[in-house]
Amino acid sequence: MRPTKAVIDLDALRHNFQTVQKIAPNSRVIAVVKANAYGHGLSKVAKALPEAEMFAVATPAEAYTLRKAGIQQPILLLEGFFEARELPKIVNNDLQIVVHHSPQIEALANLNTTKKIKVWLKVDSGMNRLGFKIDELPEIEKQLATIECIEKPIRLMSHFASADDVNDSFTEQQLETFVSTTKHLTWERSMANSAGILEAKDAHFDWIRPGLILYGCSPMIGSVGADYGLQPVMNLESQIMSIKNLKKGESTGYGRHWFAEKDTVIGLVAIGYGDGYPRHAKNGTPVWVNGRTVPLVGRVSMDMLAVELGPDHNENIGDRVVLWGKELPAEIVAEHADTIPYTLSCGVTGRVHMIYKGKRW
Ligand SMILES: Cc1ncc(COP(=O)(O)O)c(C=O)c1O
Repeated sequence: MRPTKAVIDLDALRHNFQTVQKIAPNSRVIAVVKANAYGHGLSKVAKALPEAEMFAVATPAEAYTLRKAGIQQPILLLEGFFEARELPKIVNNDLQIVVHHSPQIEALANLNTTKKIKVWLKVDSGMNRLGFKIDELPEIEKQLATIECIEKPIRLMSHFASADDVNDSFTEQQLETFVSTTKHLTWERSMANSAGILEAKDAHFDWIRPGLILYGCSPMIGSVGADYGLQPVMNLESQIMSIKNLKKGESTGYGRHWFAEKDTVIGLVAIGYGDGYPRHAKNGTPVWVNGRTVPLVGRVSMDMLAVELGPDHNENIGDRVVLWGKELPAEIVAEHADTIPYTLSCGVTGRVHMIYKGKRW
């Protein structure tokens, strides 16, 4: 069997959840599990977090997957709904809705239901992504107050643009905007994503929304999860499938992007961009083999990649290789591939075996 696998450590996930609770002891946790729990497996991750007070997803379909899996905690749709006709099913599944533009309010006003819907009003505090602009808020508050099916009090939400950079004063500015424009309201608030949880403690408010840190990675520039006591949840692993001697000046892989500087030995590893390993990872990207890191050499292919083991290597075909995880932080690999750890775990494809370890719920 092809040895390419993602090992998901549910104990590490639980550890990270508890670490988050310690960092923000006065806030309730909305665990962000969108995009298949950042590639870790939506239902398995949610089931392993019985203490999460709420889950957040991006689409109604993700929420229905959770309900079908038996998840009973509240579920929040971070982008609300896309079309008015989705509303009856959303209401039947008891989902909470972020409201971020006027057509959504109109649809709620026209909805014929006896049920009460929990709504979060998204405030655009400066990111200029989703949410109502500050000057629109007084009018929107009034409109929401008149809609019968919306449960009162409503809750407030905003999102940071650059909290991953501690040197960027925009985070402070957004926080100040959110607080000052909503201070007349006694409603519950949520603002902090992973970066806000770690480094903007004044933004914890009533509810925090951790995503990446639950999976053990740090969003902060220049750091890794271990710096904050987090443990990687995903180990992406494979094996050496072939070993080859190269003469000085010979190349490996498509496009001949790397040439041996000396007589050397390369190992071919059974993983490629068809599995989600980033094709744009550069020569020199670290790969873990037998307790050491060796450099990626040449272009990543669809099903394999090459590493330089060196002339004095001790490796054999079948030796374990870790692409990212406990032995090699995904943050470091992401940096070499000009990306962020989010895209690495989200990008793992369906042909990679997902193996779960740790206590199950
Ligand atoms: C609105 C919102 N809140 C929270 C999160 C979680 O972010 P992070 O994974 O950085 O914690 C996201 C993720 O993109 C988001 O879009």
